[in-house]
Amino acid sequence: NPSRRPLIAGNWKMFHGGRKGVELAQECATFAGGLPGVDIVVAPPFTALAAVASVLEGSPVGLAAQNVYPKDEGAFTGEISPPMLKECGCSWVIVGHSERREHFGERNTFVAEKVAATLQAGLLPIVCVGESLAQRQANETLLIVKQQVDAFLDILAQSKAAVAIAYEPVWAIGTGKVAGPAEAEEVHAAIRTWLSTRDEGLAARTRILYGGSVKPDNAAALLACPNVDGALVGGASLDAGSFSAIARAA
Ligand code: G3P
Repeated sequence: NPSRRPLIAGNWKMFHGGRKGVELAQECATFAGGLPGVDIVVAPPFTALAAVASVLEGSPVGLAAQNVYPKDEGAFTGEISPPMLKECGCSWVIVGHSERREHFGERNTFVAEKVAATLQAGLLPIVCVGESLAQRQANETLLIVKQQVDAFLDILAQSKAAVAIAYEPVWAIGTGKVAGPAEAEEVHAAIRTWLSTRDEGLAARTRILYGGSVKPDNAAALLACPNVDGALVGGASLDAGSFSAIARAA
């Protein structure tokens, strides 16, 4: 679909928070210049955002934060607000990653508050959804993912922003067990249908990314699926060679 340019985002997680992050960002800026048909985004840890922002200035690579707190300012020790991320040079924020849901108790309602606050500040969310292994084995994948999407669907529909949703099956994250193209496409197509039932325009402008053990050797098959508009890459985004190979596959 020409209105949904491929989006390849690198989630660095808790790696490369300093000098190494700056070096990696420099390498990404270099290869992204040669890939005009693909949108590239990197999501470094908070401590590297400002330095990476200055490295990326004038390059086509977008900057994302990995998390955000849904208030503009206030007595919230240790938290970072959407306007702060904006001022720092971010245009994207990863929201509701399964690691935050699992280790930090983030629930669907809190994720929805973050989506709203992110859009309110003029940032674009990459909202993550996905089922656990137990949920998949119990045949609950579409039920769980629908509940996760329903929590923020109205907020997305009320905004005209070109957001992204990342489908990341929890059992495929960091495990080397990638969802097969057919497994991924089934969930992506379902998400697209839920979006279009709510709002055709939303379905047309939202990029649905796949995440979970995306590597250079499996990226092309996943990205060839009609409803896979890009990838949210963890481990393989920490190496400019693999990350650029995934971007080239798009
Ligand atoms: O957000 C990306 C992610 O959770 C996937 O991680 O290491 O399996 O590519 P990885």
